[in-house]
Amino acid sequence: MKSAKPYIQENKQRFIDELIDLLKIPSISADSNYKADVINTAEVVQKRLLEAGCDQVEICTTPGFPIVYGEKIIDPNLPTILVYGHYDVQPPDPVELWDSPPFEPVIKKTELHPEGAIFARGSCDDKGQMYMHVKAMEYMTNTGQLPCNVKFMIEGEEEIGSESLGWFVERNQDKLANDIILISDTGMISPDVPSITTGLRGLSYVEVEVTGPNRDLHSGLYGGAVANPINILTQMIASLHDEDNHITIPGFYDNVDELSLEERAKMGEAPFSLEAYKKSIDISDVHGEKGYTTNERNSIRPSLDVNGIWGGYIGEGAKTVIASKAYAKISMRLVPNQNWEDITDLFKNHFESIAPGSVKVKVTPHHGGQAYVTPIDCLGYKAAEKAYEATFGKTPIPQRSGGSIPIVALFEKELKSKTILMGFGLDSDAIHSPNEHFGVWNYLKGIETIPQFYHYFTEMSK
Ligand code: BES
Ligand code: MN
Ligand code: MN
Repeated sequence: MKSAKPYIQENKQRFIDELIDLLKIPSISADSNYKADVINTAEVVQKRLLEAGCDQVEICTTPGFPIVYGEKIIDPNLPTILVYGHYDVQPPDPVELWDSPPFEPVIKKTELHPEGAIFARGSCDDKGQMYMHVKAMEYMTNTGQLPCNVKFMIEGEEEIGSESLGWFVERNQDKLANDIILISDTGMISPDVPSITTGLRGLSYVEVEVTGPNRDLHSGLYGGAVANPINILTQMIASLHDEDNHITIPGFYDNVDELSLEERAKMGEAPFSLEAYKKSIDISDVHGEKGYTTNERNSIRPSLDVNGIWGGYIGEGAKTVIASKAYAKISMRLVPNQNWEDITDLFKNHFESIAPGSVKVKVTPHHGGQAYVTPIDCLGYKAAEKAYEATFGKTPIPQRSGGSIPIVALFEKELKSKTILMGFGLDSDAIHSPNEHFGVWNYLKGIETIPQFYHYFTEMSK
């Protein structure tokens, strides 16, 4: 396959402008006020896929947000790549911490993005990375170089748990049949150190509610004599880790896949600066499970974090009150072989069992999913490696990520195919945070690398 570089250079401004248009639509799946915008985004994606050369593109209705499905089948005897991405984005809050409005994209240079980065919610996660595939498709069809069949499945509920996608995949196994799944919704180490994500953590997300007295009480009249749900909840949460930062839920580690020392040593070869890591998020020390490195703690080891906690009076000034209720949202990141539904049960049973008799506890599971690992000896990985070698001039490093795309394990179960995670974002791109951005260089490099994957995957499948 010819290098896409000249085509990309010629069309660079249009590629950027088109992405900026897409980023202007606030497709926030979590917030029902933006329902029309989410649906509108699906329609824009449909139009862009048609323009890029798909033969047919449908908007598939689901119990939730629609899934955009498009395809171009050139020869049933050739391999089929299924591209997955998501057009929904995270809420932009807290909006006041953005330097420019989240849905008014601007390009600014940064230390890590000397060629500029597009600042907007969804620029990296995942509209920008999803759109690289649309433009790579345009390049291949416009230059008569599409080497195999392609299917696109772009969903609008990834950030809220992909419930409708699970529903859709179970009902459309023939339609979605493929030889490899290709996703750009992760990151890489740096432009000089290309890497391919070979692992995703699983997830169990729960909400807890602790109820004390049946109404808010005067903290003087009752203080000291009744259980304060906020005091109790924080004690219960604190007890979920021991002094070595192990998670204390009985059975939590039972099925954890332990890596051999060789595997861990291999992982440790990836370039990583603890000093730069600390500096990038302004912390003076790291924190985590005893006996593991920072990179291990956030990839091959499970974790448990409170994502939000509330209750009582948080308005201006002071109000002397013992609240009736306290709440927290808790996520557990899981590793291969831990079953997310079992872990949710373990959490629920444990959390209920540690509650003192003075309060009531309710645990509500939200969503979850299994961890995933891409074997580096599979055809897809080898093709991806070649693709990066062609465009970066270096062999990419396999690297497990701490994030989750729960639907990937389900793809393997339902569609029996492996997933290749070709992510082009950087950890510092602030996904889910204020000032999310995606490097223009990264965006164009993705568009350049994807067609090479199509080429090598088709060649190596012969
Ligand atoms: N694209 C991310 C996941 C990701 C980012 C994986 C970077 C690896 C590297 C995805 O959109 C995401 O945010 N996933 C959620 C889970 C989902 C169920 C809400 C996550 O990881 O919190
Ligand atoms: Mn994503
Ligand atoms: Mn996300």
